[in-house]
Amino acid sequence: MRYLTFALGKGRLAKKALELFEKIGIQCEEMKDPASRKLIFVNEERKLRFFLSKGPDVPTYVEYGAADIGIVGKDTILEEGRKLYEVLDLGFGKCDMCVCGPKSAGELLNHGQLIRVATKYPNIAKDYFYNKRHQTVEIIKLNGSIELAPIVGLSEVIVDIVETGATLRENGLDVLEKICPLSARMVVNQVSMKMENERISQIIRDIRSVL
Ligand code: PRP
Repeated sequence: MRYLTFALGKGRLAKKALELFEKIGIQCEEMKDPASRKLIFVNEERKLRFFLSKGPDVPTYVEYGAADIGIVGKDTILEEGRKLYEVLDLGFGKCDMCVCGPKSAGELLNHGQLIRVATKYPNIAKDYFYNKRHQTVEIIKLNGSIELAPIVGLSEVIVDIVETGATLRENGLDVLEKICPLSARMVVNQVSMKMENERISQIIRDIRSVL
């Protein structure tokens, strides 16, 4: 039997994903050790391998078949636009992709002005403003702490994830428009889905039964 390989996005989702695997009897104790610098973990008994990567790299590993299965946020799936099957909504990591900014920026949005939009998600922002809103904007790519951009005058608005809304509140910003709801998803390589259909379908069924 060949190994089935799982790619998990580092951070918030990985912990929840491991809890979910435990619920269906897949243990990976070693992976929970925060002091470990090991990159890949093997469950010999079930012939499974797990690795952690940066979230945006998960769809890449899965598209190329370096991982058969990935656990990743819908935001990353939309942004990366890779060829893969999205097979399950795991129901955790729920949040929204939103256009945010100071209240005053709502006016600029509604009057279709040429505004600057800072974001970690340029493809999602482009799709929203160009294809859905039919509004020309300047998109500025950032890598984190996006809420800073309107505060320091880099952009009028941002496109970012809102979970509790605390970051916005503490920085005097508001949700101006909701783009779409997000949550963690299970994705599968298209060839693996055919070649390892039995094992992968069983994992999907097991997970579905505990969701
Ligand atoms: C995310 C997101 C927001 C924040 C939203 O950032 O980009 O900044 O969480 O959560 P909240 O609504 O509960 O406040 P993350 O912590 O992932 O870090 P980043 O700023 O480096 O992207």
